[in-house]
Amino acid sequence: MCGIVGYVGEGEAQDIILEGLARLEYRGYDSAGISLLQDGALATCKRVGKLAVLRTVLETTPLRGRLGIGHTRWATHGAPAEENAHPHWDVAQDIAVVHNGIIENFQELRQELEATGIVFRSATDSEVLPHLIQQYYQGDLIEAVRLALQRVRGAYAIGVLHRGEPEVLVGARQGSPLILGLGQGEYFIGSDASAVVKHTRQVIYLNDGELCKLTPAGYHIIDMTGAPARHTPSTIDWDPVQAEKEGYPHYMLKEIFQQPEVLRHALLAYVDSKNNIEMPDLGLDSQRLAGLRRIVIVACGTAWHAGLVGKYMVEQFARIPVEVDLASEFRYGNRVLDADTLVIPVTQSGETADTLEAVRIARTNGAPVIGIVNVVGSSIARSADGVIYTHAGPEIGVASTKAYTSQLCALALFSLYMGRIRNTVTPEDVATQLTQLREIPGKLEQCLEQADAIAACARKDHYMHAKNAMFIGRGVNYPSAMEGALKLKEISYIHVEGYAAGEMKHGPIALVTPELPVVCLAPQGSVYEKVRSNLEEIRARGGVILSIATEGDDNIKTISNDVLYIPACAEMFSPLLVAAPLQLIAYYIACGLGRDVDQPRNLAKSVTVE
Ligand code: G6P
Repeated sequence: MCGIVGYVGEGEAQDIILEGLARLEYRGYDSAGISLLQDGALATCKRVGKLAVLRTVLETTPLRGRLGIGHTRWATHGAPAEENAHPHWDVAQDIAVVHNGIIENFQELRQELEATGIVFRSATDSEVLPHLIQQYYQGDLIEAVRLALQRVRGAYAIGVLHRGEPEVLVGARQGSPLILGLGQGEYFIGSDASAVVKHTRQVIYLNDGELCKLTPAGYHIIDMTGAPARHTPSTIDWDPVQAEKEGYPHYMLKEIFQQPEVLRHALLAYVDSKNNIEMPDLGLDSQRLAGLRRIVIVACGTAWHAGLVGKYMVEQFARIPVEVDLASEFRYGNRVLDADTLVIPVTQSGETADTLEAVRIARTNGAPVIGIVNVVGSSIARSADGVIYTHAGPEIGVASTKAYTSQLCALALFSLYMGRIRNTVTPEDVATQLTQLREIPGKLEQCLEQADAIAACARKDHYMHAKNAMFIGRGVNYPSAMEGALKLKEISYIHVEGYAAGEMKHGPIALVTPELPVVCLAPQGSVYEKVRSNLEEIRARGGVILSIATEGDDNIKTISNDVLYIPACAEMFSPLLVAAPLQLIAYYIACGLGRDVDQPRNLAKSVTVE
């Protein structure tokens, strides 16, 4: 969702900003724009559509300058249109602003500004900012921004320029992410580190309520009272190449194939050679963890599905009750929280607005928080008491794949760790489970080796050209069915539902016809026979069945149109394996339909507004 890049230094700002915006494309957007200080005036170019459209215009009429801001916009207030694209500027065209977030009191501010004679050009909430900053401007941009922001309610990350201060770039954040990139004689702002990592690995994660002033000579950070704020720069530990396609046609496919390596990495990070699970950054001591009475997992989208699988794992191994809440429901649900309830936000980006707010609510109510987070230094990682990093590396495809399986792995390890602390599993049990978990990356490789066969299956007419589809599973693979359904619907635009197989008879079976493909998760395990019965019922009504089953289960062919196999594994870890064929089915169907797999319509990777 909305990407921000800003630059001040000796380089060509246009090229640096366009390159940074390209790195942020994955966040999801529908228009883009850039403003530079060129020959003492603000020069702006904005276009609806992909960055390539803006780039084409700038190739013929480039903007030249050493100071600039750029933006990719995901429309909230006002349609995707050129006048609503950022940057926005004030009446005199002195000030340009890019904004990510939502200004909740923008109506009130807009009326006040309009009453002074200002005519707005856009339907956005963001346009109040340049006008408001202009009202407070008296020769010092950061001071004007600070005063203006005191009038603003809501969430923002902003980048600001003023024509009269040709070497000054100002940034500020409250609730939306913003980082500073520190170069040699050049400084950057960005919505995340990928925007700047080509130029520098030294970054500062701005805190809420902080503003920064960047010039070619250095940087200065203050809080909302104007007092200086201290920060120690962090070093980005991943290579920019990791955020490239590396020969794959899409990021999604690359990320699907990275999963075995990601899981090996995560296991190495948390398990030593003697089968001890070490989680050094939990932020709570063993006594506190042992005394917990309840766990609430909060998350959105795919991360919520990971949380649902986590419930089965934690309840199995640690015997502690777990609730799994959608963060958007949790935040307004007036949930019962206390110091003995651990809240676990699960999030790839660490920036999802609803999940971040859930963390704030949990902490306000005295509940401890341990985040399962991918992006190091993200808002949720920094605002929780403790963190379990998932070590998945940058995930660029909007449809989450490797982040999901890495979340499952982190939850599996956490549940075993908690099981030991609570004495609900023996060291021997843990060793047995870890042996099985360590086999998962290799088995996942075997699943991925079948990619061509999965592609051939997915492209069959009755799957690829289905109008509707259903994914079903039971037990620990009920969430897998929901995740498989989400993967397919978000990138293919086919209407798909994920259902608990045992619920079919309570309604959905009415939908079964020869036009309805049903993808059924039927690996060996405690509920296998039950799933088979559900399949028989669907078969009896003419449904088209694609089963995902355990190698050696030849019998399931008799009640399935197609079968994809996964290697035998521990039932509790089977969601890690079934994820691969589910992801590949979605991927190949979406490719076959000519969809934009990495950036599906209307979707954003990082949902930083409510
Ligand atoms: C968006 C993404 C999903 C992701 C969800 C939660 O909808 O497109 O892939 O699962 O947000 O994001 P998070 O970063 O909190 O895991």
